[in-house]
Amino acid sequence: MNRKIAVIGLGYVGLPLALTFSREGYQVSGIDLDLNKIHSIKIGKSYLLDISDDILHSEVISGNLSATNDFSVVADVDAIIICVPTPLNEEHVPDLSFLISAGNMLNEHIQKGQTIILESSTYPGTTKDVLKPLLEKKGLKAGIDFYLGYSPERIDPGNQQFTFQAIPKLISGITEMCAQKVYGLYSLVFDQVIKVSSTEAAELTKLLENTYRYVNISFINEFATLCDHLKIDAWEVIDAAGTKPYGFTKFFPSPGAGGHCIPVDPLYLQWKVKEAGLHSSFIESSAVINQKMPAYIVNQVKAQIHSNWKEARILVIGITYKKDVNDIRESAAIEIMRLLTQEGCYLEYHDPLISRMTLDGVTYQSIDLTEGNLANADCVIIATDHSQLPVEFIVKHASLIYDARNITRGLTGRGKIIRLGGGGN
Ligand SMILES: NC(=O)c1ccc[n+]([C@@H]2O[C@H](COP(=O)([O-])OP(=O)(O)OC[C@H]3O[C@@H](n4cnc5c(N)ncnc54)[C@H](O)[C@@H]3O)[C@@H](O)[C@H]2O)c1
Repeated sequence: MNRKIAVIGLGYVGLPLALTFSREGYQVSGIDLDLNKIHSIKIGKSYLLDISDDILHSEVISGNLSATNDFSVVADVDAIIICVPTPLNEEHVPDLSFLISAGNMLNEHIQKGQTIILESSTYPGTTKDVLKPLLEKKGLKAGIDFYLGYSPERIDPGNQQFTFQAIPKLISGITEMCAQKVYGLYSLVFDQVIKVSSTEAAELTKLLENTYRYVNISFINEFATLCDHLKIDAWEVIDAAGTKPYGFTKFFPSPGAGGHCIPVDPLYLQWKVKEAGLHSSFIESSAVINQKMPAYIVNQVKAQIHSNWKEARILVIGITYKKDVNDIRESAAIEIMRLLTQEGCYLEYHDPLISRMTLDGVTYQSIDLTEGNLANADCVIIATDHSQLPVEFIVKHASLIYDARNITRGLTGRGKIIRLGGGGN
């Protein structure tokens, strides 16, 4: 049985995975290039909200989890799992530089008999066409000397409903034996492991899941803007449609899809099919709608400010890409903030999970939600609905609220509330 694991990339995906194995008694070597993360792990200080200091600390103290930037530790493990970022570059095409760099650092140290699994989200063909040649550079052959597979990560940061191990785990291998090795490893820690026939099928499954979300999030956002025009409450209509027991899945209006996955992965698919002269018009339209949402919200707010818009004081509440995570990558709230500054507004923000942030070279500090700060704002925009926001207090003291998440549902009061998709109320 495999007992020693290396996890490459200790971010939102890699650290929970490393802890899952270490808590099951595996000896896990975490590898990252970010020295701050390595230091945090060593002192048992978690940088992820879903992981407590206590859990991290106890795994480090027990000796089951260690962290380093030294790739040579992989020579001593049975399996290596790669969880490095797969973003888009400035031209909005796949940037596999992190994966390529990890592959190049790994091939110096990999050993016969090891199982290597890629978990980063990527386009079909990456495991075989990009990673495999890098790992084989020193002469070992995938499928013969070592085993190679792909398993998409399906973690949903901030979601307490589905524990990591309870999310069914898809696996694949470049040969049947490789798939069996990956299956054997993951079935020791995950409740359910599902094998698909190829690494390409597993890679594309992840892109399908996230593209499905992207298209539906974008559609429901467009629907919200239509409802504003029709003066019908989109939230009521979505809830009503959700009473149908089949054929309808609820999606809710928001400032847009954000994070490292949903707005990124569909463009990996789009890029891949472009090689064959094809494209998905759903992905194209979704990207257009997604990009338009922050401007739509800013314009809605602008229409409500009767004093001098250029001197308007706007407080944005919740700037992460979704509730209860401390991740601002691709966050639509940040785009709202950028547009407000471009319009010349005086910008402030509050986020209980992000104490400071830099936007176009200017650093902002999260301000406290005091009576005065709320009352001073010409408009408060609730962009992200963190569970810990004092909603009643905000409604009581703000003079105008634009609620892009329907967090104020059911509340009335002195504050004037406009909701995205609320049909003008
Ligand atoms: N965040 C999510 O919710 C989520 C969910 C499912 C899948 N994914 C996918 O998982 C992958 C990782 O995403 P993430 O959110 O954990 O990213 P992240 O940025 O939080 O973490 C990645 C880590 O990899 C490290 N790293 C980069 N290059 C490295 C290298 N060459 N060697 C060692 N470490 C390296 C970085 O320093 C960072 O700590 C991506 O492909 C992403 O699309 C993410």
